[in-house]
Amino acid sequence: MADGRPENVVIDIHGLTKRFGDKTVVDDVSLDVRRGEIVGFLGPNGSGKTTTIRMICGLLRPDGGSGTCLGLDILRDADRIKRQVGYMTQRFSYYEDLTIRENLDFVARIYDLPDRVAVVKRTLERLGLYQRRDQLAGALSGGWKQRLALAASVMHQPKLLLLDEPTAGVDPQARREFWDEIHDLATDGLTVLVSTHYMDEAERCHRIIYIAYGKIVARGTVDEVIQSSSLSTMIVSGRDVGAIAKAVRDQPGVEQVAPFGNDLHVVGPDPALLKTAVEAALAASGSDAVATAGETSLEDVFIRLMQTAQAADQPGNGKAKGEASP
Ligand SMILES: Nc1ncnc2c1ncn2[C@@H]1O[C@H](COP(=O)(O)OP(=O)(O)OP(=O)(O)O)[C@@H](O)[C@H]1O
Ligand SMILES: [Mg+2]
Repeated sequence: MADGRPENVVIDIHGLTKRFGDKTVVDDVSLDVRRGEIVGFLGPNGSGKTTTIRMICGLLRPDGGSGTCLGLDILRDADRIKRQVGYMTQRFSYYEDLTIRENLDFVARIYDLPDRVAVVKRTLERLGLYQRRDQLAGALSGGWKQRLALAASVMHQPKLLLLDEPTAGVDPQARREFWDEIHDLATDGLTVLVSTHYMDEAERCHRIIYIAYGKIVARGTVDEVIQSSSLSTMIVSGRDVGAIAKAVRDQPGVEQVAPFGNDLHVVGPDPALLKTAVEAALAASGSDAVATAGETSLEDVFIRLMQTAQAADQPGNGKAKGEASP
């Protein structure tokens, strides 16, 4: 992966802030992304992901903060940034009554690309869309629509791709293919910042950043983020896990109780307290279920972060618990 030399820093923003009315929706956000990295941007609905992405690519002017994107100043050079970044919006934003080829041709005109016909053909081939080039965008399945949107956002060969929930509503195979494509593009030097709500997608990123209520509350590799949460997990397996869930829920030291099929995941910050709580619930239920120590999942950590941020959602609280070192 690229080092921190200036030419390898693709996004570098400090203290980015955006207010809508009297609500601060992005609050003092600083982040950096290096060349060739795939960085996941996660956080609950309304936490400020889309707003941050739009400020990075010059579509929205911040109320505070500064920084660069592709070496250009996000405040002064917004127009140049817009032309050099590939941005896949959260909602499908192409013409449903144009074919795939016509949509790409339209985008190529907007970017004023030379050799338009050849560029469109190359893009169709590169993204596996050539056979479908004459299909109307409106008639495509979710996976093919998303592929068209990706094609349109990489056609002008940007060095940075900003993807806003690119795979929402797309089936697992199409999602996997999409991510294989993203990794191929990153191997060729493209840098990617991608927002998602899917845990498996977070796990395919080199690094993740978690934002809640406009503030970044965790960042690092998936392992770093899990480690820094200091959460422990016990897994209860057997019959009657539903009854055990009820019994264990209000025990001290238990923060989360979630059934996964025939297993129950019980999560808390103190391993000794957690074990005591689970064993007490098992004994009280008379069940023959067994409890073992398990791995804490990224989802458990995110739920913790969301709850912590919710409790701390007041100005001036700074870092929430669990922020890993960058
Ligand atoms: N143009 C706008 N005017 C007023 N409020 C806005 C505007 N755009 C976004 N917001 C508000 O800013 C907050 C952050 O929204 P944003 O779309 O950035 O969140 P998000 O993290 O992308 O959420 P999601 O996961 O649902 O896409 C929300 O409360 C939203 O309602
Ligand atoms: Mg969004």
